[in-house]
Amino acid sequence: MTFVIAIDGPAAAGKGTLSRRIAEEYGFHHLDTGLTYRATAKALLDAGLPLDDEGVAEKMAREVELADLDRSVLSAHAIGEAASKIAVMPAVRRALVEAQRAFSRKGPGTVLDGRDIGTVVCPDAVVKLYVTASPEVRAKRRYEEIIAGGGTADYAAIFEEVKKRDERDMGRADSPLRPAADAHLLDTSEMSIEAAFQAAKTLIDAALKEN
Ligand code: DC
Repeated sequence: MTFVIAIDGPAAAGKGTLSRRIAEEYGFHHLDTGLTYRATAKALLDAGLPLDDEGVAEKMAREVELADLDRSVLSAHAIGEAASKIAVMPAVRRALVEAQRAFSRKGPGTVLDGRDIGTVVCPDAVVKLYVTASPEVRAKRRYEEIIAGGGTADYAAIFEEVKKRDERDMGRADSPLRPAADAHLLDTSEMSIEAAFQAAKTLIDAALKEN
């Protein structure tokens, strides 16, 4: 049996960094499922296709190659926004969830992070984490990231975008963002990524002993 770790949470809560750290620690395969939605959105944008045609979007979703997902190409803000829009479509979700589930079965273990891993993609995951932080803290992190990268940013605008993205991800009918009933909550508002990692490690080590 594959040991699956499911990590969910809103944008910019720190789940990406945490997931990569955990995968490295345990030698597990890692999939950032947000990249599958982003790759689908980018393919549509590049082809000049509409973002609101479910059939067309589903076709693109079925062509996404998990091995080719490149974070540096998919990180643009506009791609994230477009991804959030096509992520409301059930046919797109079905196609991507199929690929994500196949990935989750890779041995000896996998770490998947996203919005619906513990609730929909891998409901039988051995460890489920729900990583969150206040919208203010998440907006501040994003702001500081942009400034550190030499860019210019407007905190108030970023804060509004964070709230809008949350509304879209939590408010959609199909697989909305929410913690699974058996998820462990990790609020990183006042916690360093290192402290969050240690808390996760304690939970995972305990589960590994039992399984
Ligand atoms: O985590 P991210 O910013 O890369 O995700 C981009 C969008 O993709 C996000 O706003 C909603 C969608 N998404 C999703 O619906 N389900 C997932 N498991 C992962 C991402």
